[in-house]
Amino acid sequence: MNTPIQPFTSSSDLARPTVADAVVGFVETPLFIRKPNADDGWGIFELVKACPPLDVNSAYAYLLLATQFRDTCAIATNEEGEIVGFVSGYIKDNAPDTYFLWQVAVGEKARGTGLARRLVDAILARPELSDIHHLETTITPDNRASWGLFRRLAARWHAPLNSREYFSTEQLGGEHDPENLVRIGPFQIDHC
Ligand SMILES: CC(C)(COP(=O)(O)OP(=O)(O)OC[C@H]1O[C@@H](n2cnc3c(N)ncnc32)[C@H](O)[C@@H]1OP(=O)(O)O)[C@@H](O)C(=O)NCCC(=O)NCCS
Repeated sequence: MNTPIQPFTSSSDLARPTVADAVVGFVETPLFIRKPNADDGWGIFELVKACPPLDVNSAYAYLLLATQFRDTCAIATNEEGEIVGFVSGYIKDNAPDTYFLWQVAVGEKARGTGLARRLVDAILARPELSDIHHLETTITPDNRASWGLFRRLAARWHAPLNSREYFSTEQLGGEHDPENLVRIGPFQIDHC
């Protein structure tokens, strides 16, 4: 029996530049939020390198996220096209109502303006994520900004936030702070 040939999406389609989902920031310094594409992998890698204490993954890993997971990731660029914000994540295979947020990074100059919160909101507002009612992430115990961000998101969504120990220092190789699993939900987001 012949196996049907699957239609193949050309790489130029996958890498097609997209218009912004949202324009945020101030009138004189607008920022543009959109899905990433193949041309953004390196810029994301550079941003993450500039955002300790984030683990820096390979440029290849960021390219995979920017292409194969682009529907569940977002970047923010300034008018010069520089990437100043990034969120990566995926829908959990074993819990299709749960978005797992892997990394969030906002360049130092853009911090404190609500950009991280808006990047997360922009992803969850996409029609592809209309079944999402929970968010999970991991946070190290002393990352104040990250705890502040997720507590703020939970408050905005009027949803409970629960956390528990998840990956120990030992499991992470001995030189990494432990990671707590944080789960927010259920919540209901308005979709585009
Ligand atoms: C964490 C991070 C993404 C926050 O980005 P941001 O754009 O400045 O965050 P926002 O402006 O959207 O802030 C949202 C909420 O988070 C909280 N928050 C942000 N920065 C904070 C800080 N330094 N201390 C305490 N709370 C903070 C605030 O409650 C804020 O809400 P409010 O301003 O309405 O009170 C940014 O600090 C960063 O990139 N840090 C380095 C990388 C990192 O640690 N990533 C998280 C681990 S994956």
